[in-house]
Amino acid sequence: MKQKEINKSWRQIHSPFLFDIARHLEGGGKYVEVGVNSEIIEQVAKIEHLRQTLSRSSDYIEVEDFGAGSKVFKNNLRPIKKIVSIVLQQKNVAFSLMRLLLFWKSKRSSCRILEMGTSLGLTTAYLAASGWEVETWEGCRNTSSYARRNWKILGCEESIKCKTGKFETLLNQDKGGWDVVFLDGHHDGLATLEYIEILKTMLNKGGAILIDDIDWSEGMKAAWIELLEDAHWNVTMKWRGKGWLFNRVEDFEQHLKLRKSYIPLSKFNKMKRFTIVFAAVTMLMSSQVQAQISKSENNTKGKAESSVITSEDFKIYGEMTAFELNGKSVVKISFDPILNRIGADKKAISTAYEISNVAYASLGQALNVLSSNGWYVDAVWTTLERSGTVQHFLISKKVSKLSPASPWLDKNTHNKNGGKENGSRK
Ligand SMILES: C[S@@+](CC[C@H](N)C(=O)[O-])C[C@H]1O[C@@H](n2cnc3c(N)ncnc32)[C@H](O)[C@@H]1O
Repeated sequence: MKQKEINKSWRQIHSPFLFDIARHLEGGGKYVEVGVNSEIIEQVAKIEHLRQTLSRSSDYIEVEDFGAGSKVFKNNLRPIKKIVSIVLQQKNVAFSLMRLLLFWKSKRSSCRILEMGTSLGLTTAYLAASGWEVETWEGCRNTSSYARRNWKILGCEESIKCKTGKFETLLNQDKGGWDVVFLDGHHDGLATLEYIEILKTMLNKGGAILIDDIDWSEGMKAAWIELLEDAHWNVTMKWRGKGWLFNRVEDFEQHLKLRKSYIPLSKFNKMKRFTIVFAAVTMLMSSQVQAQISKSENNTKGKAESSVITSEDFKIYGEMTAFELNGKSVVKISFDPILNRIGADKKAISTAYEISNVAYASLGQALNVLSSNGWYVDAVWTTLERSGTVQHFLISKKVSKLSPASPWLDKNTHNKNGGKENGSRK
């Protein structure tokens, strides 16, 4: 019995080989070093525009189903818009695959990918955008004609070789020499095992197979378990309901389940808006609580009196952020240079800048240093950045006196455009 699959985020993976794959699939943003140039960005925009158009299309196609049947479609006359939403790989997955291919392209001499299951050809177009040599197989004639029409619209028909026929027939005629095979069709456990057995001999050294929908049915689940038992596939990785198979003599046996962490830009922007609103509400609530506390003791009837500000209420503020980078904890404390001009308490201010220059080993260390120097945490909020979760802390310290600062009147203050303010407030 093989070892159990271990659930990991891409950041926790030790094997450099799998770490590289995982960060391109799930890392997102700045952890991905691939040449996504303007040509690729333009092509992705075209593919996604076509996806939108097809998702509103009123076209139907008569399909010949060679797969394990559908859990959704009741007959063979199928609306294009439903195929788009149910059958095709989603944008995230296709985009991640393209990023991985772009990364591998810089590392390997041979770059040949076979997609088994073309459907409308949108994922094929992503694969072709990576610059790999792409071949795709589709059993249904009407479907492959529709895919060809789509590639014409996208201008990538020259870079895709498409064969129409049953997988089993085409496999028997094929010479192999594949670096990656994406098996995305005929989701039947036994058929999958048979295809993989043939594909084993058709992969180039260091080649990989990606099987879609390994959890789709009991049969597919059983097939995956059997593949995990096969000593040939000593490295495997489950990813978003798909399974990667690798035969790597240079690596020890390992079976991972890669956790989902990549956030698409659109979702990220929505989440960012939400966290900003959440942070504003938190700060408003905390300032209201502080105002209540600072009301005079006699004010028991809740009269709308303004709070009395004593000298103890003068505070200076800063910001602390904490996040993980390559598995290491990073803590940063920062203060705006305006502190130099508002603070009469020079000692407190110079200590603040000293505190911000330290490389902290952990969040606990930073909090202890802050606390021992008289700093408090006033508010905490979390944002989900492309690089992962970032914790933000609003920190403050009481000081004896402050000099008022008016940046809008101050001639030394730079405006947003990099020039000096004209001295008047708009
Ligand atoms: C899930 S779709 C492929 C989706 C496509 N890769 C994408 O993401 O855009 C599977 C396709 O494989 C085809 N297919 C299924 N079993 C097949 C078989 N045994 N031989 C040939 N084609 C098959 C189906 O007709 C269907 O169009």
